[in-house]
Amino acid sequence: MAYPYVHEKEVQIVSRGWGKPRTRTIDGWRELDGYVGFRKALEMGRAAVIEEVKKSGLRGRGGAGFPTGLKWSFMPKEKRGPHYLCCNADESEPGTFKDRELLRWTPHQLVEGCLIGALAIQADHVYIYCRGEFFEANQVLARAVEEAYAAGLAGANILGSGVSIDVTVHQGAGAYICGEETALMSSLEGRRGLPRVKPPFPAAVGAFGRPTTINNVETLCAIPHIVRNGGEWYRQWGTEKSPGTKLFCVSGHVRRPGNYELPLGFPMNELIYDVCGGFEEGRKLKAVIPGGASVPILSADECLACCLDYEGVQKSGSMLGCASVIVMDDRTNIVKQVRRMVEFFAHESCGQCTPCREGTTWLSRILRRIEGGKGTEEDLETLLALGTQMTATTICVLSDSAAVPVASSIQKFRDDYLALIRRGEAVGVV
Ligand SMILES: Cc1cc2nc3c(=O)[nH]c(=O)nc-3n(C[C@H](O)[C@H](O)[C@H](O)COP(=O)(O)O)c2cc1C
Ligand code: SF4
Repeated sequence: MAYPYVHEKEVQIVSRGWGKPRTRTIDGWRELDGYVGFRKALEMGRAAVIEEVKKSGLRGRGGAGFPTGLKWSFMPKEKRGPHYLCCNADESEPGTFKDRELLRWTPHQLVEGCLIGALAIQADHVYIYCRGEFFEANQVLARAVEEAYAAGLAGANILGSGVSIDVTVHQGAGAYICGEETALMSSLEGRRGLPRVKPPFPAAVGAFGRPTTINNVETLCAIPHIVRNGGEWYRQWGTEKSPGTKLFCVSGHVRRPGNYELPLGFPMNELIYDVCGGFEEGRKLKAVIPGGASVPILSADECLACCLDYEGVQKSGSMLGCASVIVMDDRTNIVKQVRRMVEFFAHESCGQCTPCREGTTWLSRILRRIEGGKGTEEDLETLLALGTQMTATTICVLSDSAAVPVASSIQKFRDDYLALIRRGEAVGVV
């Protein structure tokens, strides 16, 4: 199958150009109207750019879905020193693989989005914090930044406008926690990637102690299109509160896993059975994690009526997060899946907060015990109580993220736990 497979229901805005090596070059990007948005932004001025982004209703694609225009407007209007924009390209949430594709196929789309964002928040410097394991993406991106400098689109006095913006690609070192925005800034400053207590928020005290905005790769990639075509144009897709398109990273037991750019509000049912081709013969849906490892698991019934926008998924009992849809068929051992996710969080905990450091380890030990056939029904109550103590008690939400799948799976798939407990023997702990 040619890369990428594009389904007829997709609306390709940020994914347009994927699979075409020429799009990686500045000339190739210009053939797709590249840098027209940035030139327009220079003419519009910062306040008008923020208004247009507000009008579009774009919400951050890094997980929380916070309105981007509003976030930009939190930056100080009066400059008393440098401002920074950090692009969060540290993508490591289990089940998420959209930013890597944006980085490696359309690096100029991101550079253009960063330049517009920097203009809007009066940033002197953009730091693109890119996951170190993305070797190809890092190389492609570094080349794109060089090309932008050579074309006078980055650096001092851009296109004679008097605006100066520097762009640096910074490689991360593979810690999941460095995707959390305050840890990212600590790491960027050359310190350990430890999350910081908020407030102060980054717009007041961010990287190097200066006002900073952190945005996800996909968020910034949508910006050139919004500025070029207008905020209203973007609203033709999606819902009133979740406008535009979104990349859905679908993995698991479907026939055609992959990245799909679809309007927000797209029915989950249609995504699984039509866009992704459903399941192997004789298999049926058991559960879906709709937004990466950090969100509650949905049962098959909950999935059927679920619409994939921020409000729709919440109504169904979970969160859209970064739209990493992990689909599981009826072969799935839910306890094993949850245990593997919890072990991921235990491994990635930075260790600053006791409920997270100890809690993630205890969750994984108890889950392993249940999986190994040595659990008791009391363990389920212990898991739930532990989860409660891990929620809203720590510096960042990694701790909550580990507790969420445990609690939701016990609530919705209690029989799976009980079957292992009552069977009393191991089922291949891997
Ligand atoms: C543990 C943890 C890991 C995160 N990892 C990422 C990540 O890899 N990429 C990302 O964009 N946001 C990540 N986030 C969210 C960021 O903190 C931040 O909210 C986001 O980059 C803001 O961008 P947006 O407003 O464009 O969504 C993570 C958050 C947490 C708590
Ligand atoms: S919640 Fe966990 S990952 Fe987050 S700061 Fe505390 S110990 Fe570190």
